Amino acid sequence: MAHINDHYQKLQAGYLFPEIGRRVRIFEAANADAHVIKLGIGDITLPLVPAVVEAMHAAVDDMGREAYGYGPDNGYAFLTEAIRDNDYRARGVDIDLDEIFLSDGSKQDSGNIQEIFGTDCTLSVTDPSYPVYVDTNVMAGRTGEADTEGYYGGIVYLPATEANGFTPGPPEGRVDLAYLCSPNNPTGAVASRENLQQWVDWARANEAVILFDAAYDAFIQDDSLPHSIYEIEGAKECAIEMRSFSKRAGFTGTRCAYMVVPKAATGKNARGESVSLNTLWGRRHSTKFNGVPYVIQRAAAAAFSEQGATQTAEQVSYYMENARRIREGLSTAGFTVYAGEHAPYIWMKTPQALSSWEFFDQLLEKAKVVGTPGSGFGPSGEGFFRISAFNSHENVDEAIERIRKGFAT
Ligand code: MLT
Repeated sequence: MAHINDHYQKLQAGYLFPEIGRRVRIFEAANADAHVIKLGIGDITLPLVPAVVEAMHAAVDDMGREAYGYGPDNGYAFLTEAIRDNDYRARGVDIDLDEIFLSDGSKQDSGNIQEIFGTDCTLSVTDPSYPVYVDTNVMAGRTGEADTEGYYGGIVYLPATEANGFTPGPPEGRVDLAYLCSPNNPTGAVASRENLQQWVDWARANEAVILFDAAYDAFIQDDSLPHSIYEIEGAKECAIEMRSFSKRAGFTGTRCAYMVVPKAATGKNARGESVSLNTLWGRRHSTKFNGVPYVIQRAAAAAFSEQGATQTAEQVSYYMENARRIREGLSTAGFTVYAGEHAPYIWMKTPQALSSWEFFDQLLEKAKVVGTPGSGFGPSGEGFFRISAFNSHENVDEAIERIRKGFAT
């Protein structure tokens, strides 16, 4: 009989979002007439912008005229050059084309990158954090069992709290791999230049690698805040960065993202010799991935065109207007809310000292609104709740009103 990967049995319950979906489906089945407003999973609600749709149509025609087989391993130059020029050069950062690896999502990238590191590496996460970071390391056998509070042995948890503005600094003890996310999912907090410099200085001094998830960078409203970790001196030696078209251009169902693995970033082999992380990831990528479809790459490149950039920026503004309404609406109603200024997420304290899941259930029952329990992102998320800004203005206004009525303070 095939022996399973025992590490999977250390995982807690199901993955967070399917569990939310399951509870909502049960509620909807029992309340067929209810208009449930979903502010849970961070999934786009606006269609692809016209410039992207036109580029997709044209790319389909290209494929009908001639054969487009396997594309280049790292992605077509028309897209990687647009990424280099718009996401990096425009902010004073030099990235080489062979440091960019296109993929079908930051979820995959942030889950897969751990494969090029030894299972004896110690890791840190800010707590709460995007569940993929912890779960994929559990699956890989890099952790012990979870304790009763949900902390896995072998992971250094860095609490993101009101006291540290939800942006903790680097760990004290030995850590080899540090996951960081800014703007943060789930807390919506954004790292300052000083905070990131602290992390980079720490990583260089400790020969650690930072796995920097910048999937939400397009939501940053203050241009002086860093969009990329490579805006920080020394980061290319110690950081890998992930970015995505999912939220900034409405690609959650279309799939396109990329990871930057700088050639200056290294790890050590068993003999203590330095090994290029770019070479390792290139080897892994070409073995397990055959590239993002040509049509999707053309669509992603169109998001950088003059029209595409304007149209996608308008969508980001639309979601950020929702974030403003949620933040101000809930705050005026007496709730304690954070963030939503540079991210499509509002991080609120649960009212009446309810646990995160208790509030989830009561919110669904009383207000017919779905959010995401903070504890689903890690033990320090207990007592908090994430509200997503991805929905229509009308639904957001209605949801705020219902929450206000259901939980008047
Ligand atoms: C979230 O709601 O946290 C995200 O949508 C999850 C994801 O992007 O995979």
